[in-house]
Amino acid sequence: MILGIESSCDETAAAVVCCGRKILSSVVSSQIDIHRKFGGVVPELASREHLRQIVPVVREALEQASVSLADLDAVAVTQGPGLVGALLVGITYGKALASGLRKPLISVNHLEGHIHAVFLEAHSESRRQPELPALCLIVSGGHTILYSVECEAGSASQSLDSAATSRFVYSRIGGTRDDAAGEAYDKVARMLSLGYPGGPVIDQLAADGNPEAVRFNDPKMRGNPFDFSFSGIKTAMLYHLRRHPEFEPEIAARKEALARGKRQAAQLRALCSPATLDLIASFQSAVVNNLVTRSLGAAEQLRAKSVLVSGGVAANRQLRRTFEEEARKRRLDVFFPSRQLSTDNAAMIAAAAYPKYVAKDFADGSLNAEPNLPLA
Ligand code: KG4
Ligand code: ZN
Repeated sequence: MILGIESSCDETAAAVVCCGRKILSSVVSSQIDIHRKFGGVVPELASREHLRQIVPVVREALEQASVSLADLDAVAVTQGPGLVGALLVGITYGKALASGLRKPLISVNHLEGHIHAVFLEAHSESRRQPELPALCLIVSGGHTILYSVECEAGSASQSLDSAATSRFVYSRIGGTRDDAAGEAYDKVARMLSLGYPGGPVIDQLAADGNPEAVRFNDPKMRGNPFDFSFSGIKTAMLYHLRRHPEFEPEIAARKEALARGKRQAAQLRALCSPATLDLIASFQSAVVNNLVTRSLGAAEQLRAKSVLVSGGVAANRQLRRTFEEEARKRRLDVFFPSRQLSTDNAAMIAAAAYPKYVAKDFADGSLNAEPNLPLA
């Protein structure tokens, strides 16, 4: 029974997971309300809020799981990548807890957690397991990366009957050279006064627009064809708005509505002209097509048997639909975690820690935050 602790960005989370498979509890305290007025995560505020939340969140995770500290077999904590001050809160707390309880401490790479989220859910709901080798797209506010996922030689079969104990090996296939996809959603939402975070609202409003109304060019990537770039689309949106001053009054009206707390998609939708809805739909379509085309291209080149998509943007409905349609054409299976496990949580950290627990791969008191910790 592993207690997972996650504090890499703006969510303080704790979870108890049994044998890397069964989620006994998963508590997430989001700081969105604190960062909203700044239109993005403010690192200093994030650390302070983690300090306030870490004890009550862990306590609640234990209570919901009906376990005591003494019942735990290990404490797992996110080592990186993430904001250094935010990571330090979880690491310091996890270290102290493990040491006080005389239980093993396990360090987890946040990105490995996102990958385990997909397997964890397939396990806990006894659903079909993704087959390996897999191609995994991690797409969030902080990351847009493609990895190949394979079982470590001798670790368990590639059929993944015992995926919870399998150790995976990863290779980085590509990634963004500038902004993450979620960051592009958030920045575009800011330009259009659609609130923060931008992804969920754009997801809703895009359904009412024409995705072919405005053309956003697919960036040509020299060198690695599986790299991404999202800063160009953000700049293209900025220029589009400058060329069309007619958008200004409704942007101002939405800004005012947001200031009065009207943040819901339906409330903002009432303040969007058809041209704005077309613009939103065209933006989303460009991002989604970019993500899907490169991911499936990489999956084919690697002869992957399945495609995994995880991270906050994986909650996007058009992304899911397009992945499913395009993957089917290529006879590939695509897997997403549920919404709760797509975004940052600690169940994925506890699940990713389990193979390390089995292998007795423990951290010691020298464990430190690694803001740029690579996965491969
Ligand atoms: O994984 P996450 O909770 O935090 C990290 O960034 O690590 O992801 C948050 C990001 C934000 O940029 C948010 O706008 C985006 O995920 N997001 C979405 C959707 N829900 C959240 N983007 C597109 N469509 C969504 N439905
Ligand atoms: Zn994340």
